[in-house]
Amino acid sequence: MGTAAAEVFGEAFHSDPEGLSRGPGRVNLIGEHTDYNLGFVLPFAIDREVRVAFAARADRKIRLVTALAGQVFTTDLDSLLGVHGWPGYPLGVVWALGELGVDLKTVSGFDLGIDSDLPIGAGLSSSAALESAAALALSSLWGLRLDRMELARAGQRAENVVVGAPTGVMDQVASLFGQPDAAIFLDCRSLELEPVPLGLADAELAVLVIDTRVRHDHATGGYRQRRAECEQGVAALGVGSLRDLEPDDLDRAASQLDEVVFRRVRHVVTENQRVLAAVRLLRTEGAGVIGELLDASHVSMRDDFEISTAELDLAVKAARNAGALGARMTGGGFGGSAIALVSCGDVASVSTAVTAAFAAAGYRAPEVSVATPSAGASLLGRGAGPGGEVQGP
Ligand code: GLA
Repeated sequence: MGTAAAEVFGEAFHSDPEGLSRGPGRVNLIGEHTDYNLGFVLPFAIDREVRVAFAARADRKIRLVTALAGQVFTTDLDSLLGVHGWPGYPLGVVWALGELGVDLKTVSGFDLGIDSDLPIGAGLSSSAALESAAALALSSLWGLRLDRMELARAGQRAENVVVGAPTGVMDQVASLFGQPDAAIFLDCRSLELEPVPLGLADAELAVLVIDTRVRHDHATGGYRQRRAECEQGVAALGVGSLRDLEPDDLDRAASQLDEVVFRRVRHVVTENQRVLAAVRLLRTEGAGVIGELLDASHVSMRDDFEISTAELDLAVKAARNAGALGARMTGGGFGGSAIALVSCGDVASVSTAVTAAFAAAGYRAPEVSVATPSAGASLLGRGAGPGGEVQGP
């Protein structure tokens, strides 16, 4: 693992990296657009990731290269802002670490070689994966003593301020705190989190990811608008955040809000309840019984929050018709991926049915794969212990 990143590094910089880090993408099991409303989410890190090969430099230069872009991007520690495209993510993390108190006047420049098997814009958080792998690389290079939640916040700040996407902290937390066969139950207000075992293999269940290959960009458009609509709800109802509302408050909200804002608020309030219910069910009865919650979450995103697309709706419907226990779009919406909870024995037939439904509708063929809940970001190689792996800070 990490070899391709090391190769990209070697080809571009004609030297060996000092270390390697990895940051996984994520799938959100349930809890959508609840993170920036300070509610609950339940994502897991997946077995597809960004890998970063890194080395310190003697000067203040920064050189970045990816397997995809090929060309080396060069800047320095005094020119981190105003950069467009993928370099904005690692540079944003550097800037955010500076905001967290790292003295960027005294640290060394660095070279990064980046490789990834995560599709970009597929709703699997390739950007958070890159941010967390870069954050661990910089922690290692600069000997930082920041904990993982601080690194997650740095990734979010990078995304919000430098890239300009007004996202929450869910993706970075999933990427940094993931655990094998578990989802991460995060309270986005207190930032307390707890792994919730999924027991997928024992229950002979799998989570299918259906990438519709309709691409989205959260820095513009619908995501930003939904966030603004939630803020309108907060202001009109005079609450601190939508997290403060319970289902019992919805009648009052309906009388105080315009119809569209009310439906946005109702999605967030009911989605928080669905996350709590999913966590309860996972702990008592196991993953086999959360299907209805996944379905209800999708309906709420489709009808109340209006962030689904025809392709996502079809993916969900075709998967359900072919025997999936539950299905929903995952991530920010307006494209990207859906997930379906299926019995292991049905993986092939559900995949085939979804692909056939897309062909019949005249849509581009989706990419269907199984996502395995996996370990969060880590350092590889340098100073590795017997397992060949060093955990980050
Ligand atoms: C994107 C954002 C997250 C979250 C989801 C929706 O993935 O990056 O912070 O808001 O959308 O749940």
